[in-house]
Amino acid sequence: MSGREEWQSIAAEADPDEVRERIFTGYKQGKPFTPYVPTIALPPAIEWVLDFGCGVGRNFPYLKSIARQVAGFDLEPMIQRCRELAPEQIDLLSSDWEEVSRRRFDLVFASLVLQHVDRDDCRRYLEDFARMAPATYVITRLQSDFGANVLGLVAESGLFEVRECAEVEHDSEKNELRQVGGRSFDEVSRATGNLHYEVLLIPKPRI
Ligand SMILES: C[S@@+](CC[C@H](N)C(=O)[O-])C[C@H]1O[C@@H](n2cnc3c(N)ncnc32)[C@H](O)[C@@H]1O
Repeated sequence: MSGREEWQSIAAEADPDEVRERIFTGYKQGKPFTPYVPTIALPPAIEWVLDFGCGVGRNFPYLKSIARQVAGFDLEPMIQRCRELAPEQIDLLSSDWEEVSRRRFDLVFASLVLQHVDRDDCRRYLEDFARMAPATYVITRLQSDFGANVLGLVAESGLFEVRECAEVEHDSEKNELRQVGGRSFDEVSRATGNLHYEVLLIPKPRI
């Protein structure tokens, strides 16, 4: 089982700590279930941010600190768990992509999500992000559960200029992200390694 069905079954786990562990590996060994603050610069003055694949709201406290309004989208069962487990209330929580994708945001924030999305859905979501917001932040494991290089799919889409690209890892002493490498987006989007990367994507102007 992988993809949507796997995440729907994770969301149905009775034990909230099991849900948190599946979202954030290492939680049960003491890794705090707290937001990762990006190491790359995000746009200033954000009115609306969309937490795409918000899980149970681990990143809400950080997003509320950088945006006036926060929306969260995820699969329906995860949205139900989010309503129960999120550390903070936000302005909109929805599993209706048709509706959410018609809205406009200042930033789409996709944390550890695209690595779990199949190629076709990932391509469709990227097209939507390019329409929905002037900037999209992605933190992802490089290789997806479906054998695709996630940043390769971004490159192939031709939709974005990549403003920033950083190789990152979890700093277990400080419990935060730290940058570890300086490989270019071009190199990484063709690489077979499986580290984590942050990118800031700016939609190219449409002709
Ligand atoms: C590893 S968790 C990350 C959750 C949250 N962004 C965080 O950083 O704590 C992956 C999330 O992606 C969501 N997800 C998986 N497949 C998805 C899809 N096709 N569309 C939207 N969300 C999806 C899961 O339900 C889950 O909440």
